[in-house]
Amino acid sequence: MSKYQRPNIRRMDGYSWGEQPQDRQTIKLNTNENPYPPSPAVADALSNFTAAELRTYPQPTADVMREHIAKLHDLSTRQVVVTHAGDEALRLAITTYVSPGGTFASTDPSYSLYPVLAQIQDARTLRVDLEANWSIPPDFPAQARAADAQLTCLVNPHAPSGYLTPVEQLHRIAEEISGVLLIDEAYADFIDPKIGYTSRELVTQHDNVLVLRTFSKGYSLAGLRLGYLLGAEELITPIIEKTRDTYNIDAISQSLGIAALQDQDYARATWEKVREQRQFLAQTLNDLGWSCLASEGNFLLSTPPPNSIGAAEIYKRLKAEGILVRYFDHPRLHDKLRISIGTKEQNQVLLENLRHLCR
Ligand SMILES: Cc1ncc(COP(=O)(O)O)c(C=O)c1O
Repeated sequence: MSKYQRPNIRRMDGYSWGEQPQDRQTIKLNTNENPYPPSPAVADALSNFTAAELRTYPQPTADVMREHIAKLHDLSTRQVVVTHAGDEALRLAITTYVSPGGTFASTDPSYSLYPVLAQIQDARTLRVDLEANWSIPPDFPAQARAADAQLTCLVNPHAPSGYLTPVEQLHRIAEEISGVLLIDEAYADFIDPKIGYTSRELVTQHDNVLVLRTFSKGYSLAGLRLGYLLGAEELITPIIEKTRDTYNIDAISQSLGIAALQDQDYARATWEKVREQRQFLAQTLNDLGWSCLASEGNFLLSTPPPNSIGAAEIYKRLKAEGILVRYFDHPRLHDKLRISIGTKEQNQVLLENLRHLCR
């Protein structure tokens, strides 16, 4: 280990990402990608993009994309910053709002990148256990306030449970904490529209709320690396003007991102298909004796039947059959599998294998 690393970097472990086999045969239900391809408009934009366009720098602040995003959320362009996917949005929020030695707050379990980013910033992490039903404990804001958390990150819908925190509770948390509240909506596109969830008023009514969105899931563009943050202009401006990498969004991503945003009908149709498959998979797993939490994400946190082999073993045996799901070695998760929603055909192959394995 190099003696030149900063002490906090020496002490920390990095992020462990889900397996990413590059073959096309594996049924990949482990990292919550959208199982449907990106919009044909994205494919057209890609084939029309010429190498000559790469000679000059891209538009520095991805302004055309910002305008499309602002319109989509009925906000002003100054309330939007485009990022190199959700992960860069998180890094920017931490480097802009948490001082080294300061406190970052979240729940446990949560997105495992959060504590890694906090360690890079040499910040302390407050992790508050979720309730048994995966909801945020009522005293969470008081705990974040007592710890003087400069940034609090909450995933909604929560990953890996799929639990949706009601927007009223998020308003209360925003009011009660003393720092910035980032609501990580990586999976919000998959929320059932009948619920009527919208975080727009969180952005317009509070000066301390950031909302994260990504193109990785909803727009089937995990390979492109595009995301954004919404927030009060005073929260967004320092990120645009100071902490972002210069030209953080390359020219190809700007062009493809705009094409994806312009084809909302296509994106919405994939979200609807994912919801239908989510219902089908949850129902069939329940019929097979599994218990699945109600999920508003594109994944199900599922516990195998009590008399079957355990989750870790099922994970290994599925992998041997070319099916990847996610197993977490975490006290609250080690008896469960997080299964991303696949296409109808992929889900059927998964179910056939599970019927056989858990007989
Ligand atoms: C909760 C959550 N937030 C953010 C992200 C970031 O995704 P990306 O960097 O692909 O936009 C992920 C990725 O899986 C996630 O699960």
